[in-house]
Amino acid sequence: MKFVFLGPPGAGKGTLAAEITKEFGIVQISTGDIFRAAIKNETDLGLQVKELIEAGGLVSDDLTIALVKERLEQDDVKESFILDGFPRTIAQAEALETLTDLTAVIDFSVEDDVLIKRLCGRRLCSGCGKIYHIETMPPKREGLCDVCGQQLMTRKDDTLEVVKSRLKNYHAQTAPLIDFYRKKNMLFTIDAKRPISDSVKELGDKIKTNSF
Ligand code: AP5
Repeated sequence: MKFVFLGPPGAGKGTLAAEITKEFGIVQISTGDIFRAAIKNETDLGLQVKELIEAGGLVSDDLTIALVKERLEQDDVKESFILDGFPRTIAQAEALETLTDLTAVIDFSVEDDVLIKRLCGRRLCSGCGKIYHIETMPPKREGLCDVCGQQLMTRKDDTLEVVKSRLKNYHAQTAPLIDFYRKKNMLFTIDAKRPISDSVKELGDKIKTNSF
């Protein structure tokens, strides 16, 4: 099955993708994770996008489309994938249509005030990348990952000022994709304000019964 996870920053795309990967083995392709790994490893790509990403801007369509095209050519995603955070503009969505077909586009619906609270309290494991929240999904030992024991960190783009700018970009550039995919009859909207377990069950049931 081939999914796009479409939603504002902090909607829970990465959290839900990790659960679906664990249960069904569907590979997650997160453009944000690819960019952050490049920044961490100080590759040419990382140096090119660092400042922009940390300020909450969007990477250029050309660069992002080329990156996704290359990733989709790899063997592990020939049959199934979750594209998390791509496409994010109409140009990216049109390019994606030339690269692959899709089973469904999962649209995450959550209000901005909830997103701000989620992003400002998010922590990530610096080792394995597992996602936590200081209030809703805290680790068992403060500041340390439950899975690998490494230190938790805060993303540079999770400050209030940058979060507001990311939300503005989402509404201007990414939200129009909701209509784009609705018109193609590919949109499945989940209420992402609920506990994550509810979304895992709803999407998991649809995958099990192949009812998209
Ligand atoms: P990216 O990493 O994709 O960031 P994003 O889309 O802003 O999404 P997030 O990762 O912030 O949120 P999420 O929806 O995954 O939420 P999460 O599960 O972590 O992109 C980063 C940057 O890279 C972009 O700003 C851009 O610069 C660049 N980029 C990436 N793709 C691009 C593209 N296609 N084109 C151009 N540029 C691109 O959850 C958030 C928090 O909420 C966590 O703490 C979690 O524990 C908590 N939480 C989640 N679900 C729930 C729930 N149901 N209840 C309570 N708490 C919850």
